[in-house]
Amino acid sequence: MAFENENNLLEVKDLHKDFPIERGLRRKVVGTIKAIDGISFVIKRGETLALVGESGSGKTTTGRCLMRAIEPTSGNIIYNMRSSGSEVDMMLLDKPLLKKFRKHMGMIFQDPYASLNPRRTVFETVSEAYVNHRINTNRKELEEIVAELLGAVKLAPEYMLRYPHAFSGGQRQRIAIARAIALKPEFVVADEPVSALDVSVQAQILNLLKELQSEYTLTYLFIAHNLAVVKYISDRVAVMYVGRIVELADTEELFGNPKHPYTEALLSAVPDTEPERRRKEIELQGEIADPANPPGGCSFHPRCNYAKEVCRNEEPKLVNAAGPDEKDHFVACHFADKFHLIGVE
Ligand SMILES: Nc1ncnc2c1ncn2[C@@H]1O[C@H](COP(=O)(O)OP(=O)(O)OP(=O)(O)O)[C@@H](O)[C@H]1O
Ligand SMILES: [Mg+2]
Repeated sequence: MAFENENNLLEVKDLHKDFPIERGLRRKVVGTIKAIDGISFVIKRGETLALVGESGSGKTTTGRCLMRAIEPTSGNIIYNMRSSGSEVDMMLLDKPLLKKFRKHMGMIFQDPYASLNPRRTVFETVSEAYVNHRINTNRKELEEIVAELLGAVKLAPEYMLRYPHAFSGGQRQRIAIARAIALKPEFVVADEPVSALDVSVQAQILNLLKELQSEYTLTYLFIAHNLAVVKYISDRVAVMYVGRIVELADTEELFGNPKHPYTEALLSAVPDTEPERRRKEIELQGEIADPANPPGGCSFHPRCNYAKEVCRNEEPKLVNAAGPDEKDHFVACHFADKFHLIGVE
């Protein structure tokens, strides 16, 4: 399978992840949660693609499937590795190959208190991948590597022998970032990496992620709730709703010119740079749809202020709504070219 565009690091095709709903002692399967319900997108080399959407929309499940930290139910995940110059279909890798392949990927989690083992020193945590992958280094070489990584995340190398409890939330996240980039991966999934941190340190961590991106040519999948953060860090944004991507475009385009009513509603809560242009916050009615039992047609229709008959009956496909000389703007809404929705500058 040839890549149309070699600038794509990763191509995801029709990815699905079902979780069984089990009941009783015999764990009888009584239903299926379609946590990811057929998503397709690319991640371009060196970019930050943000994944946004309400709680339960499937963001974490997507991030974990892309690393095969959990097994996707079906679909293709194709990596175009610069280091080897070859394409790899992640879904075809057996366990030992997958383990080897994971060298190219890093993961940063939301809570740096939960993600660092309290009984391991910074040295042990940051050098963990070298041990796991049996990379042949002696203690002295490893110490040099860890010192360099700590320098990259702006922590003093003297901290190497301390335990996590000695550090603040922001410092812990720096340690977690050093661990994620230890083997110089090409791709990093950051799942809400600043949501658990004080607002005052969020910007520092975001700036660090940006610096590391240019220094090590990293490609990020950046999962977040906070759209102001997403606007700052990402090149493109994918909006998820109940296991589907409903809109995907360049960040500026998506924020300034949303084409899906769900995106408009999410954006209505973001502060505008021109406060005098008063926008009303759109209150979404009801809860996010149940992925075990999504409504027919467009799954957003019960909460959509613009819904019409067709929205109840027909599921809209994700299509490129960009004009001839415009950049790609994918949206899944029957009326994407009819509405004039309000964004944020
Ligand atoms: N291991 C699991 N077993 C069963 N259901 C799961 C499992 N993991 C996730 N789900 C379900 O899949 C759906 C998507 O969950 P996911 O954690 O991916 O959402 P999210 O967008 O990351 O939400 P949040 O913003 O709260 O982190 C939810 O309905 C969730 O309950
Ligand atoms: Mg999540």
